[in-house]
Amino acid sequence: MNGGQPSAVDLENRAGLPEDLLFLLAKYPREDWQVHDNIHGLASMWLERHDMFRELGGLLEGAIAEHREGKITPDAFARFFAPRLRFFLGQLSGHHAIEDEHYFPLFATTESRLARGFEILDSDHHVIHDALGRNAEAGSAFLRALQQDADAQRLAADAYADANAGLVAMLRQHLTDEEDLIIPLILERGIGM
Ligand SMILES: [Fe+2]
Ligand SMILES: [Fe+2]
Repeated sequence: MNGGQPSAVDLENRAGLPEDLLFLLAKYPREDWQVHDNIHGLASMWLERHDMFRELGGLLEGAIAEHREGKITPDAFARFFAPRLRFFLGQLSGHHAIEDEHYFPLFATTESRLARGFEILDSDHHVIHDALGRNAEAGSAFLRALQQDADAQRLAADAYADANAGLVAMLRQHLTDEEDLIIPLILERGIGM
């Protein structure tokens, strides 16, 4: 965010967005979202996409845990895991690209007091993108190691589990913060697709 210096708004360090960006969330708390008329359309679509990413992240974590506990064979694991990992990484990249290129500039113009929030979310995408790269590498190494001996498999599984846990934790924080910024704005302004 600021020339490499750690900051309280960095994705790895924060537990939420700064208070001054949450004035619309205070007006539209999460528990009221689903009963608001403007939730239909864009806001619902956003929440559904995010829930899909949370679910997929959890599925990948669960599959890795089962593999490490010896509950599924390497072959069965690879068949389950490889296509879902590819789908997860591809969908996430596409989702971020649409946000960065289209929606964040639109929202930042709509409500200039939240512009800094969209800069924070945009910079999250770069951090997540780097983690996606590491995740894809560790995932490929892991799948290759399934052809090797048990020690090699265990090492690669540990490395991949670490890469994935780091990615999923950052992603969960990002999704929550993004919703806290965007959903109240859509509800307030009735922004459509
Ligand atoms: Fe995002
Ligand atoms: Fe998003």
